[in-house]
Amino acid sequence: MKFKEGMLKAIPFICIFIITALSISRLIYDGYSIIKLISSTVLLLIMIGVAAFYFMQYYEKKLDIKNYQIMLWVFVFIGYIPSLMLSSINPYLLPILLTTALITSMIHVRLGFILNFVMITLLLITTGISVEIYLMYVVVGSFISLTIPFAKNRQQVLYVTASNMFFFMLLNIITWLIAFGDLVEYNYLSLVYSAFNGVLVVIFAVGTEPIWEMMFSITSNARLIELSNSNEPLLKKLILEAPGTYHHSIIVANLAEKAAIEINANYHLARVGALYHDIGKINHPEYFTENQKGKNIHDELSPDASAVYIINHVKDGVVLAKEYKLPKDIQDIIREHQGDSIVSYFYQKAMKHSDGFEISDDDFRYKGPKPQSRESAVIMLADCVEAATKSLSEGNRNLTSISDKIDNVISTVISKQQLNECPLSFSEIPIIKEAFLTVYNGMYHERIKYERS
Ligand SMILES: [Fe+2]
Ligand SMILES: [Fe+2]
Repeated sequence: MKFKEGMLKAIPFICIFIITALSISRLIYDGYSIIKLISSTVLLLIMIGVAAFYFMQYYEKKLDIKNYQIMLWVFVFIGYIPSLMLSSINPYLLPILLTTALITSMIHVRLGFILNFVMITLLLITTGISVEIYLMYVVVGSFISLTIPFAKNRQQVLYVTASNMFFFMLLNIITWLIAFGDLVEYNYLSLVYSAFNGVLVVIFAVGTEPIWEMMFSITSNARLIELSNSNEPLLKKLILEAPGTYHHSIIVANLAEKAAIEINANYHLARVGALYHDIGKINHPEYFTENQKGKNIHDELSPDASAVYIINHVKDGVVLAKEYKLPKDIQDIIREHQGDSIVSYFYQKAMKHSDGFEISDDDFRYKGPKPQSRESAVIMLADCVEAATKSLSEGNRNLTSISDKIDNVISTVISKQQLNECPLSFSEIPIIKEAFLTVYNGMYHERIKYERS
């Protein structure tokens, strides 16, 4: 199964390389013709589509493919069409790297990296730019796709812009030397063009992020980082009105982020999703133990009335998230974080006082859906683990007991089939557990031995 999946992942990349190599060799040996140019363009455009489709199917199952496909084509044409027209005027000012930068920052680094190569090869075939210009754009584009993700605050934008500018200039000189062997006839003005191009790419990609987010309802990492700021209105409200829940959410966020890093999921999304997962508790903070001081309001309520308040925090959270315009990914996490599990404490309490009457577990069940993404699943696990470890008595709270608790919680969540609808694999479960333990290890400043089972 693993081999088959690996092969499926590799197919588009193998195809791209074979077709590109064939196209280039034909071009070199046969010279140009209009039919050849058109057919090469069509073929490589198809390959971009295939590569993107495969990427989204097998690497990022969570992506809304339709939405991302449209955005991808918009980005491809923003950089590619003007580059076609400019190639004969000034090959150093081609905006093709705008596409690389936009795909990298808005969709995925790996996709930006691959399509950079595909697009520039397409440009080489269809416009006849020289091989040294081709090499320059391939290498600078790869560099941009690796550095753009680091441009998240003003200082980082400055560093990334400067490094791209200098790298572009350096490659300009190196590729010229490769082609001509000396700088006797070197066009020094091309250095200025390269510098300008390098600066423009970063500024444009970073500056237009909010436009694409709005147009395509996409959540960029920059937006997620903004949302994790405790001055964000909804988070501020949580801190003031439900401080216990905020404290719980911080621990869940630390656990979920670490686990997401280890399994290669979107850790920004996991962190921010965890910070907001219980936002619905703001409506009735006193109904949740973490916010209670002494008095327990549930002592005066029937178990089914209590369950209604508890269950409604999911629905209330989604309403608040929509009202405060949180991204759809975060809304989904809020909606899914309890799955369709049962509020077992109040269900047990109801059973105990049923006096022989039948109790329907549906009245004590969250309405779902179950987690649909790996980030959502990780947050569900982190949430359950945090609640369970908190229930350990102060004297009994050490890393060994926490490790046992984590095992217990994960088995329970799996046995209740809450992870059935998400693309989390069984091999990732021990990695998640170890990540959780690392976070608790940091909190308790102890070390325990843990062997993977
Ligand atoms: Fe919750
Ligand atoms: Fe929670």
